[in-house]
Amino acid sequence: MKKAILDEIEKIKAVDKSNMINFCLNSSKLYGEATKLANKIQVNYSKPDNIIVAGMGGSGIGGDLLKDWARNKATVPIEVNREYQLPACAGKRSLVLIISYSGDTEESLGAFLDALKRKCMIFCVSSGGALLENAERLKVPYLRVPGGMPPRAALPYLFVPLLLYMEKMGLVSSASEELSEALTLLEKIGKENSPKKPAEENFSKTLALGIGQTIPAIYGFGFYRSVAERFKTQFNENSKIPAKWEVFSELNHNEIVGWERAGELGKCFSAIFIRDSEEPTEIQSRIEITKELVGKAVVGLFEVSAQGKSPLAKMLSTICIGDFTSIYLALLHGVDPTPVKTINYLKDALKENGVKEKIISELAKL
Ligand code: F6R
Repeated sequence: MKKAILDEIEKIKAVDKSNMINFCLNSSKLYGEATKLANKIQVNYSKPDNIIVAGMGGSGIGGDLLKDWARNKATVPIEVNREYQLPACAGKRSLVLIISYSGDTEESLGAFLDALKRKCMIFCVSSGGALLENAERLKVPYLRVPGGMPPRAALPYLFVPLLLYMEKMGLVSSASEELSEALTLLEKIGKENSPKKPAEENFSKTLALGIGQTIPAIYGFGFYRSVAERFKTQFNENSKIPAKWEVFSELNHNEIVGWERAGELGKCFSAIFIRDSEEPTEIQSRIEITKELVGKAVVGLFEVSAQGKSPLAKMLSTICIGDFTSIYLALLHGVDPTPVKTINYLKDALKENGVKEKIISELAKL
């Protein structure tokens, strides 16, 4: 019965009103367009001492992906800032990348204000809002990306500019090459996981069916740390379910003990292990032992195997599987993946405290 629901494309369209699935199906195209747009960026700053990416939610995750991807490539430290203010290390020699799809997120505007006050080198990526209004007025360089998407679906436009900015600055060299591999792979994954493919031939549908009513715990390692985080946030925002994520090998030093006394509660969970045929031996054995341990407590145990050769292709293709799965899970539960009512409610409720207004009026004084 559940399979039948998933396989009916017309029903999918009826529930997925703004067609979130299309963003996944078209992700190769979107990454291609984002690359063309970001190639136009002109870099006017000299090499920074450190890089701070400031952004929240679907915008901030781009910073985490950048940090993980660049870990073995860039010699400049990268920090992701999710606070209203920047860390003490932010100064004139810091490159601060402010990423906010709407351009109206108060934490990101707060970080922008702070970066201006500290005279950091700033570059903004947004579709508009108070961020771009002020960036334009204050002559801060920015990239305007197309609007009208849910921020989490706009990941190509929010992440690719970060990669290419680093490449244009000479801090990394392989971004464009890895992106081109990713585009080809994403096209293939889009076809393989499309609503038209029945569950038996469709990995994401099968995974969504396996997760069912459980709470997924996603386990990543290395650069799949932020990929696991993206899985979790997509389960939250698209499927509207709780989820958790952890990273090897840290999870071997705490998380695994937590399953000891899970008892009945363990039946509410499933575990998803992100795997890579090239995973380091030390991680491989940790995953195998952890699977056995966690498998005793949870009801479902799944693996998502990364595809591709380059780190970026592996990261983006695995993300695409997570995105598809979170959408199929929403549809399986009869939920429209697009609206995020609770986030909107919270943002509205916060208006009363006047914090955002204060940040905007401080920006206006500059
Ligand atoms: C909604 C979403 C959220 C937003 C977050 C920050 O699709 O993904 O996590 O990304 O509330 O808003 P923006 O991205 O506009 O700065």
